[in-house]
Amino acid sequence: MPQQVHGVIARSKGAPTELVVINVPDPGPGEAVVSIKACGVCHTDLHYREGGIGDDFPYLLGHEAAGIVESVGDGVDNVQPGDYVVLNWRAVCGRCRACRRGRPWYCFNTHNARQKMTLEDGTELSPALGIGAFIDKTLVAAGQCTKVDPAARPAAAGLLGCGVMAGLGAAINTGNVSRGDSVAVIGCGGVGSAAVAGSRLAGATTIIAVDVDDAKLAMATELGATHVINSRNVDAVQTMQELTDGFGPDVVIDAVGRPETWKQAFYGRDLAGTVVLVGVPTPEMKIELPLLDVFGRGGSLKSSWYGDCLPERDFPMLIDLYLQGRLPLDAFVTEEIGVDQVEAAFDKMHGGKVLRSVVVFDAPSPADTVSDSAGAQA
Ligand SMILES: NC(=O)c1ccc[n+]([C@@H]2O[C@H](COP(=O)([O-])OP(=O)(O)OC[C@H]3O[C@@H](n4cnc5c(N)ncnc54)[C@H](O)[C@@H]3O)[C@@H](O)[C@H]2O)c1
Ligand SMILES: [Zn+2]
Ligand SMILES: [Zn+2]
Repeated sequence: MPQQVHGVIARSKGAPTELVVINVPDPGPGEAVVSIKACGVCHTDLHYREGGIGDDFPYLLGHEAAGIVESVGDGVDNVQPGDYVVLNWRAVCGRCRACRRGRPWYCFNTHNARQKMTLEDGTELSPALGIGAFIDKTLVAAGQCTKVDPAARPAAAGLLGCGVMAGLGAAINTGNVSRGDSVAVIGCGGVGSAAVAGSRLAGATTIIAVDVDDAKLAMATELGATHVINSRNVDAVQTMQELTDGFGPDVVIDAVGRPETWKQAFYGRDLAGTVVLVGVPTPEMKIELPLLDVFGRGGSLKSSWYGDCLPERDFPMLIDLYLQGRLPLDAFVTEEIGVDQVEAAFDKMHGGKVLRSVVVFDAPSPADTVSDSAGAQA
């Protein structure tokens, strides 16, 4: 039987989010229904709400989630009901050109559920990043479910599903940060702070956190930054060079995604150093550079999509490191909130005190699900 549950949608561009009743179909072939335990609030959800990502409203928001597989459709063999999973937006196909060349993190045919979740009037929803997890239960492709050790608390584990993985991977995978490297991270929200933590995990000895907010810099220090720069007060390029014997860091990660921060990364890094862009720019942003500077500085200019992660490889490994006390995922969970507080969490993103607000769902009780008695069963 299709189920009716509550979820958070963005109905139209810029409008505040709404908690509404949503129809979730039974899983078809290759699909799974997952009971969500926790889902982080990512800046990308706000980008969706503001129309910065697309125009396929209404969006079902939320995509950094951990939960328990409730049911699976035909042909699903990677997970079964009861499995504890982190949801991912990279269910690689194994067949596209990127996959066949051994670069599955560039897979351009990742799987999502084929069926649509809908509003009560039948309007089809676009799930954020093909997930949609500010909801009691969601429908995904089974490949979007990655099994991890159930000892990891959902609010922490779910963060690997997007922002924290993006930041860790920007350092470890895309930036190839290694022992003894110097790294600067511009923008220390959830993503940038994870890049700081990833740089520490990889053995970087100098880790410079750059932000315009001292509270974020303090959190980055707890996660492993050895130096901080408040770029509101001092010149970021000059200061990151001063902190690295005049050379500039080997790797600079831009976790803001604005022309001015990317230029700081471009000019601040060591000669032939690496720039990693992980913050997402908006369509109107442009950059102009002397081509001679691009030539003369060399190095590599990279973008990091989802930290170049492979969920099946990276999630269980990172959860193991977390459970061993070597990856402080709990530090990213600033607060646990109810599903009706997503809009307030968006406001707090600009307040400077929050790395991640995480929506936590209680164990499903009959009252949480819209029942026959409410006259709303499909
Ligand atoms: N590439 C990917 O796969 C991927 C995945 C998830 C999120 N993202 C993107 O990463 C970015 C960061 O996400 P988040 O959740 O950490 O956001 P956030 O809002 O929590 O953090 C942004 C941080 O940047 C700081 N900042 C803003 N302007 C700055 C400036 N000019 N100089 C220095 N610091 C500045 C803010 O003070 C804040 O600490 C967003 O653009 C998000 O969409 C990318
Ligand atoms: Zn592929
Ligand atoms: Zn995200």
